[in-house]
Amino acid sequence: MIRSLIKNISRNYAFAQFFQKPDFGKYSIVMPGQVSPMRSVPEHIEKPDYYKTGEPKPATRDIEIKNSKQIQLLKDSCKLAANILEESGKILKVGMTTDELDNIIHQMIVKRGAYPSPLNYHHFPKSVCTSINNVACHGIPDDRKLQDGDIINVDITVFLNGYHGDCSKTYLVGNVDQKGRELVKATENCLKAGINVCKPGVDFCKIGEVIEKRAHEQGFGVVPAFCGHGIGSYFHGPPEIIHMENAYPYQMEPGMTFTIEPVLGQGSRDVELLEDGWTCITTDGSRTAQFEHTVLITDNGVEILTLPDEK
Ligand code: MF3
Ligand code: CO
Ligand code: CO
Repeated sequence: MIRSLIKNISRNYAFAQFFQKPDFGKYSIVMPGQVSPMRSVPEHIEKPDYYKTGEPKPATRDIEIKNSKQIQLLKDSCKLAANILEESGKILKVGMTTDELDNIIHQMIVKRGAYPSPLNYHHFPKSVCTSINNVACHGIPDDRKLQDGDIINVDITVFLNGYHGDCSKTYLVGNVDQKGRELVKATENCLKAGINVCKPGVDFCKIGEVIEKRAHEQGFGVVPAFCGHGIGSYFHGPPEIIHMENAYPYQMEPGMTFTIEPVLGQGSRDVELLEDGWTCITTDGSRTAQFEHTVLITDNGVEILTLPDEK
């Protein structure tokens, strides 16, 4: 009698463990909605090679060392991307759709004489990536309205004077629960930690090592599916920046430029690619956050190129 009771209790416990979702906090699970037609870019704006075809030319094979002229051009596009990202943060409002946000950002970018890099890059249909709550990366702006308590990553890349500048932030919409706020803060800390180890002679794999360690210290994990990348006249090229422990074999040298863009998650690290070919969602519905900067290796350290102008 007692034995069977104990058995039942433990069976019920195992049952509960299996079916009860861990508590990831209070937020809405996002599924993709309706996407509006592609927006057009005025005639006079310089377009990247993939503008018509959707297929970019391959980037450099080796990690490019940029000269001072290339660096200046890249700096200008990075500054613009950072300023637009900053302004995007100020216009986010409960009730606004991500399609409306895409439209505003698109207009801001073309008004400043630049091309919104995501537009038709490998056929991406919009001008910015917006990834909310359980959408881990590459969310496509659509007719979903922002809700109180959402966390939204806005990822801005602009093409100006032949160079791409790339950065992103996760913004809080209205009142975000504590679990969400902690995730966002932790992710920003990880990006900082990753940038802080960069200087000439350091192994690229050091970045992932410190980011993963910092993520674990704060109670989160790194989502392995997303990497940083070399950037310049190409949107994505070598080196590959892995945000967790890895054995990437190259070292940093002055003149190299790349992004660092860790995605941290609350739950399982598994993501699933949806049929639209872009939207990545977590398989367990847990939330993720991401922050991104484009950086330059200088003679004695690192410079963040995607800082907005001080106001
Ligand atoms: N900006 C993203 C990155 O950080 C890339 C987006 S690709 C796009 O690398 F096509 F979705 F825009
Ligand atoms: Co980006
Ligand atoms: Co990037």
